[in-house]
Amino acid sequence: MKLVEPSLEHLPSYAAALATGWSPNNVTNVSAEQLVAVRRDPSGFIADLLRQGGTITLPDGTVAPKLPFIVRWMWDGDFCGSISLRWQTGTDALPPHVLGHIGYAVIPSKRGRGHASDALRQMLIEARSVGLGRLEITTDPGNFASQRIIERNGGTFVETFVNQRYGPAPHLRYIIDLTPAETRDQTA
Ligand SMILES: CC(C)(COP(=O)(O)OP(=O)(O)OC[C@H]1O[C@@H](n2cnc3c(N)ncnc32)[C@H](O)[C@@H]1OP(=O)(O)O)[C@@H](O)C(=O)NCCC(=O)NCCS
Repeated sequence: MKLVEPSLEHLPSYAAALATGWSPNNVTNVSAEQLVAVRRDPSGFIADLLRQGGTITLPDGTVAPKLPFIVRWMWDGDFCGSISLRWQTGTDALPPHVLGHIGYAVIPSKRGRGHASDALRQMLIEARSVGLGRLEITTDPGNFASQRIIERNGGTFVETFVNQRYGPAPHLRYIIDLTPAETRDQTA
């Protein structure tokens, strides 16, 4: 499996995943609206997906600036899933409305093959390259697969928390230290 930048070449396979009801967004199911957009204007859909800047609308209706981001599709000859990294330039901190630096989702027929674990491993390299030293990932108490994926990639559990913007359900916060081990030892 490799990570690819979303493109027209990969779009038919992505659209086929959307058509099954799969959603790349774990908070809101966007499969139907994305499928409409893909069919209306394939090139425009890819351009919108990759466009930096602008705003996003949160589940509670709040509009917030869109952070810098990298989105990649998991590809094994067909579309397998997506993963994205967002961050604030010059800091490891995130605004309170952002649930973690990285989000990922694998389509049901491609699960259990290590794709999400491998995608996260590859995305950590990108995270280092944009200057992040410490990365935050959140998941849910019942999402044992995601907890395992984060732990396999060096994640340390920090706390259980509630973010009211996303409702009353608790989330788990993990940290992945991206600094080289020797640097960590010197500063400890
Ligand atoms: C969570 C998700 C991304 C996993 O994708 P995947 O490609 O199947 O994951 P992987 O194959 O890389 O690895 C999953 C790991 O969790 C383990 N696992 C899977 N289901 C599990 C379960 N119910 N309980 C415990 N461990 C589980 C696997 O055994 C594997 O660990 P291993 O490598 O030690 O064997 C996928 O199920 C998904 O897209 N779910 C919906 C969206 C989502 O939850 N995204 C994450 C939001 S934080």
